[in-house]
Amino acid sequence: AAIRREDYRPPGWTVPDITLDFRLDPAETQVHATLSVVRRGAHDEPLRLDGAGQVPLSVKVDGVAINDWRIEGEQLVVPLAGDAHRVETEVVIAPDRNTQLMGLYASGGNLCTQCEAEGFRRITFFPDRPDVLSVYRVRMTAEARRFPVLLANGDPVASGTNEDGTHWAEWHDPFPKPSYLFALVAGDLAVHRGSFTTMSGRAVQLGIWVRAADLPKTDHALHALRLAMAWDERVYGREYDLDVFNIVAVDDFNFGAMENKGLNIFNSRYILADPDTATDYDYDAIAAVVAHEYFHNWSGNRITCRDWFQLSLKEGFTVYRDQCFSADQGSAAVKRIEDVRGLRASQFPEDSGPLAHPVRPESYIEISNFYTATIYNKGAELIRMMATMLGPVKFRAATDLYFDRFDGTAATCEDFVACMEEAGGIDLTQFRLWYAQAGTPRVSVGLAHEPGGGRATLRLAQHVPATPGQSVKHPMVLPLKIRLFGAETGRALTDETLILLDQLSETITFEGVTERPVLSINRGFSAPVVIESDRTAADLAFLSAHDDDAFARYEAMQQLMLDTLVAGTINGVVQADAVLDAVARTLEAEGLEPAFLAEAVLLPSENFIGDQMMTVDPDAIHAAREELRERLGRTLEPVWRRLYAEMAQDAYIHTPDAKGRRRLRNVALGYIAASGAPDAAATALAQFDAADNMTDRQAALTTLVNSDAPEREDALARFHARYADNALVLDKWFQTQALSSRADTGAVVARLARHPDFTLTNPNRARALVGAFGVNQRAFNAADGSGYRFLADQLIALDRLNPQTAAKLLPPLGRWRRFDGERSRLMRAELTRIVETPGLSKDLFEQASKSIE
Ligand code: ARG
Ligand code: ZN
Repeated sequence: AAIRREDYRPPGWTVPDITLDFRLDPAETQVHATLSVVRRGAHDEPLRLDGAGQVPLSVKVDGVAINDWRIEGEQLVVPLAGDAHRVETEVVIAPDRNTQLMGLYASGGNLCTQCEAEGFRRITFFPDRPDVLSVYRVRMTAEARRFPVLLANGDPVASGTNEDGTHWAEWHDPFPKPSYLFALVAGDLAVHRGSFTTMSGRAVQLGIWVRAADLPKTDHALHALRLAMAWDERVYGREYDLDVFNIVAVDDFNFGAMENKGLNIFNSRYILADPDTATDYDYDAIAAVVAHEYFHNWSGNRITCRDWFQLSLKEGFTVYRDQCFSADQGSAAVKRIEDVRGLRASQFPEDSGPLAHPVRPESYIEISNFYTATIYNKGAELIRMMATMLGPVKFRAATDLYFDRFDGTAATCEDFVACMEEAGGIDLTQFRLWYAQAGTPRVSVGLAHEPGGGRATLRLAQHVPATPGQSVKHPMVLPLKIRLFGAETGRALTDETLILLDQLSETITFEGVTERPVLSINRGFSAPVVIESDRTAADLAFLSAHDDDAFARYEAMQQLMLDTLVAGTINGVVQADAVLDAVARTLEAEGLEPAFLAEAVLLPSENFIGDQMMTVDPDAIHAAREELRERLGRTLEPVWRRLYAEMAQDAYIHTPDAKGRRRLRNVALGYIAASGAPDAAATALAQFDAADNMTDRQAALTTLVNSDAPEREDALARFHARYADNALVLDKWFQTQALSSRADTGAVVARLARHPDFTLTNPNRARALVGAFGVNQRAFNAADGSGYRFLADQLIALDRLNPQTAAKLLPPLGRWRRFDGERSRLMRAELTRIVETPGLSKDLFEQASKSIE
């Protein structure tokens, strides 16, 4: 049964206040809820409360037990005579049997909650929809010895102990909020405290709660939190609004983290870091997620979503905000490159596959399936395009207007766009198509030059491919930043200009262009589109050396590599010269930061090469890419060795520059290994042993794991032994093997699934092995279908425990249209087997059935 956007109706009853009383116990938790309910408008509908998996032990109205309530589907229906009542329910739930990790559940002996999107109904009966905003009072009672810490949203108001070994605490959150932002935590936790003084001078007590042994790993997260609080004041004028801000880290979590008001709950992988166990990538991800969840306090909590079709209102905007925050902490160009790489790896395939959906979807079966790269990352690109079109001053005026006008409400994407229009003084009528049309626009460009008249003519045409349910598409507004460079002199021939392509095709002429121009287009990735240009390898090489936009420079190199690899895959012969030349030049160029160099010389992934092809031939892609890697390794071996030596550092420090040097050094190590140099494994093993940080150790391990060197098994065994009691590092051990480029990876992964440390009950562990294997294009697409069967087996098993996490791992099977007949048939057979599994969740059913169509 699909939920449709057009069916939205405002709630018939509101709940201005709720009081929750918990008697917490892992096996049997009693929940007593008292709701003040108010009829909205004139109607005679009963009160309908969502509740999943429980029956009420009692229902009272205005203090009197009633028995004319009934259960309809998953709702408790309570007939009410007047316009305002007090409704009380009591239920008993079992957190320790909650393997879905939605609602109240146990993790590592502690109790915690996850309510977004529809987990609150697994805790108590309530109108579990984001447009019902209530003030929450929460009282928790629990055994004092096992659960010394009791946290909930808002501010603590009172606490005490009882004679029977239990204690209690009461919390009050003055800001009305929807149920998906409710949270509580009970457990044996230690706190790293900090403080922050807001711009108006209010002192906020910060706390990061973890198990005591992990306290030394919380500095980075706390530091990032303070930076994020200051950044939101400076850049958006947004101040924190409670006296306390708590973050709790838990090991079992379905995704990254959750922005519950005043009590963020995090997957521990996005909090815990020290040099020995976390990579530079982990450090950056921690800062980004801490900032993301903090920023939600305004873009999400103070202003929430009217319904779940508006999810990108908070997620797209908040991702855009966290991307800009991270860009401000180090190199903005490198951050943009990373974000675009991520968009192309996760969102573009979604947009061109069976699960394509608009940024504001029209329908869903299970909302959890819509926490997607489209809602999050394409959504962020939409905000970025509006920011580009408005410019910084008007964009800030527009967000001020939005925060001011919609504070305390549940708003829509339309509300946001209307503010952009009003404060920006522009018409976004056609731009709104970005919210409604799925699919990645493709822009074909051609630049012609008449040397005599000094005129250059740029022809642009756009095409939005059909997506499921949307066969007809309309032209969209594509903001494209362009600039022309002179092929002979290398100098810029024009200023950077922003073109708004809003027709199917357009022609733009430039006068006074005396030398042959080379086109730099979609600079900074100003629009999330695919550019199809007729630029030659020579032009791309030229741009990779001369473009003054760092992103465009990177992009030119990527395109050159991609063209080379696609041709090499099809022809079986890799014409490497242009790439060899361009990479050599880039490595010699003056003034490029190491982190940029590392990005620029990295080859596109096998998946991304596959995404360019009508029919993906995973083995040919792998062979072509390996060949180009080897050629790069061999031809430039002296340069890689020089960089490997030059980029070495004394003791570990965590600064943007030090990170960049580690990155470039490890890229150089990869190319030394690719060259086939006989000492490569020894070099990697020496680095593995000498490393004083996880970035270098894991990079060395990856190099060895991808090799046939005898050192491989030794490194894996020692890595495992050293980190045997660190779950987050063991995830890396599983993941590195699942991503291996070796031919035996399928068999290795099947064996690892039976390893004593493997479990499907922990989402991080499941993703580390099963998730990573699914994106290993070559291994997953083994011609005999063994990879497909393995994934389907794992998903069916995982679905019984945790449907949400299972559904997230399905998309690799949905790529079947892009493979040869036999692989297609094998993939579809597995999708059919999944769909026909008795007792399948609606999460996995929706993803699998949509993927077969
Ligand atoms: N709102 C959270 C965040 O982006 C993520 C919640 C994900 N929920 C889900 N059902 N997948 O910060
Ligand atoms: Zn978010």
